Amino acid sequence: MRVLLTGVTGYIGSHAAVEVLAAGHDVVGIDDLSASIIDTRHAIERTAGRKIEFHELDLRDAKGVECILAHADVDAILHFAGRKFVGESVADPIRYYSRNVTASVNLLAAAERHGINNIVFSSSCTVYGDAAELPVTEHSPISPVSPYGKTKAVVEGLLEDLCHAQEATRALALRYFNPIGAHPSGLIGEIPWGTPNNLVPYVMQVASGQRAVLSVFGDDYDTPDGTCIRDYVHVVDIAKAHVLALDAVGRNQFGNRDGFGALNLGTGQGHSVLEVLDACRAATRRPIPHHVVARRPGDAAVIYADPSRAANELGWRAQHDLVTMCADHWNFTRNNAERQASAS
Ligand code: UD1
Repeated sequence: MRVLLTGVTGYIGSHAAVEVLAAGHDVVGIDDLSASIIDTRHAIERTAGRKIEFHELDLRDAKGVECILAHADVDAILHFAGRKFVGESVADPIRYYSRNVTASVNLLAAAERHGINNIVFSSSCTVYGDAAELPVTEHSPISPVSPYGKTKAVVEGLLEDLCHAQEATRALALRYFNPIGAHPSGLIGEIPWGTPNNLVPYVMQVASGQRAVLSVFGDDYDTPDGTCIRDYVHVVDIAKAHVLALDAVGRNQFGNRDGFGALNLGTGQGHSVLEVLDACRAATRRPIPHHVVARRPGDAAVIYADPSRAANELGWRAQHDLVTMCADHWNFTRNNAERQASAS
């Protein structure tokens, strides 16, 4: 297959590109490089040992999207491009709807015109909002809290409607829990822009001496050690799920009658902030100082996935444990200190 990856130089997109290439498919990549760097394209090619076709493009440029899709001759789309920070989305919802929704409409409209019927969408457990039941299954209510979460739910809804309207269209939304880690080669990983919002990128910057101390957001939750529990999952496991998803949409062996489906990607196991910190200390062999501060507004106490549907429908299971995830994240952080410093 020839597969179009939007957001190809981003965190999940770059890991997925490596796995798609390893599975023998060709990659046509798009990224506007607004939150990633072109070096990552070369890192993908070095890791996979193969070249990709790359276009620098903002998906809000409808004519540009049309032009690429008219000539790319692709069989399927993995759609990763988008913004992903809750706080930023609350402050600037227009930007989030424009970058996440308008961009997706442009992409899907061009895909429709050119008969590209197989779509896999990068969604998030954030669509469940404050999960009412645990573990979170795909039947849990869709109730996003932030503008960011709402944009993910809107695009999922659009895909479902599109599948309903057109018999040939099949779409799968993959709802990631908390992706961490990096490719074991140390060549690709997450390069945080500015101060990291997420736990593990922040912890790694404390381990490397870029930041002094980790602030743990609250230790008075109703959990065994008082800190929040999340379902951390290795980014390479997430990436591999996309290769299986490509096959599944191709065979139309999932989802509802209309050809739309959504799957949770998590390990099914929760870890507290302090457990993650201990795993990072073990993986980095650095002390990683921390102090406890007030809760972060909007944080739920406990969220973890029921990943059984992904196991049943794709044959996918997360393979990596927490210490391996932290060790791989650290390996990338150490190898790329210079690139990370320039993005800070
Ligand atoms: C966040 C987003 C979620 C997004 C996900 C991507 C919010 C509210 N949610 O999830 O929409 O899909 O990232 O991975 O932003 N923590 C600290 N100190 C820190 C940073 C985090 O104690 O400096 C704690 C948080 O309180 C949380 C846990 O670590 O309990 C994980 O936080 P984070 O990595 O930001 O992920 P989520 O909040 O689960």
